[in-house]
Amino acid sequence: MRRPEPAGRRLARLPLPIETRRLRLRLPAARDVPALQASFRDPRTARAAGAPLHSALERRDPARMVRRTAREYRAGEHLSLSVVVREGDRCVGRVGLRGLDWNWRKVESLSYWVDPGSWNRGLATEASWALCDAAFRRLGLRRIGSQALEPNLASRAVLRKLGFVEEGREREAVVVRGRAMDMLLFGLLRGELRRPPAVGPP
Ligand SMILES: CC(C)(COP(=O)(O)OP(=O)(O)OC[C@H]1O[C@@H](n2cnc3c(N)ncnc32)[C@H](O)[C@@H]1OP(=O)(O)O)[C@@H](O)C(=O)NCCC(=O)NCCS
Repeated sequence: MRRPEPAGRRLARLPLPIETRRLRLRLPAARDVPALQASFRDPRTARAAGAPLHSALERRDPARMVRRTAREYRAGEHLSLSVVVREGDRCVGRVGLRGLDWNWRKVESLSYWVDPGSWNRGLATEASWALCDAAFRRLGLRRIGSQALEPNLASRAVLRKLGFVEEGREREAVVVRGRAMDMLLFGLLRGELRRPPAVGPP
């Protein structure tokens, strides 16, 4: 009987970096740390997401996050990519696929964040579209899941623009500053990804 291919080798089939008109998506590198540090300290990111996106340890020392994502990539468990504006090679965020399930060819969660200084320019949509397209075409995934807190309208807009379908709701999934919030659950099947987003100037 043939042994299944190791997960790390399957993930390595995805050609990196992924390039779009404005962006380059590549594995996080030490040179991204100063930009990550500034983003992590910006309270608008955690406020919009509902909670900090990283552990306190990684917020203090983003180099830990760079090392962790390299380990997870080698193991084929999760993929986390820096979102870099090609013009000027500026790291402005992150996009990732968490919880790769090679048995069922699906992923638990598409995740993304963009530095508040670059919001509403279509960057999260452009990066996420390119990653979903590559995941369906190059990794053979059938399904990509995602979640957004109900009040996170920007995140819900990104998913809607990509073609994600709202599939359910986890009631009172988190409590932030005493306020209970529902988590909306989304899914995207191969063939449901919309056409590439029209992009603005660099
Ligand atoms: C969610 C996030 C990644 C979006 O990044 P972005 O690069 O600004 O996203 P885009 O520009 O591609 O799209 C944003 C959309 O949200 C819409 N939007 C933004 N704020 C909004 C609000 N308060 N109400 C309604 N829509 C809003 C924008 O109008 C845009 O939609 P449109 O193109 O139809 O006009 C960014 O806000 C972020 O990093 N938030 C904090 C982290 C987070 O919440 N991550 C997701 C959950 S883990």
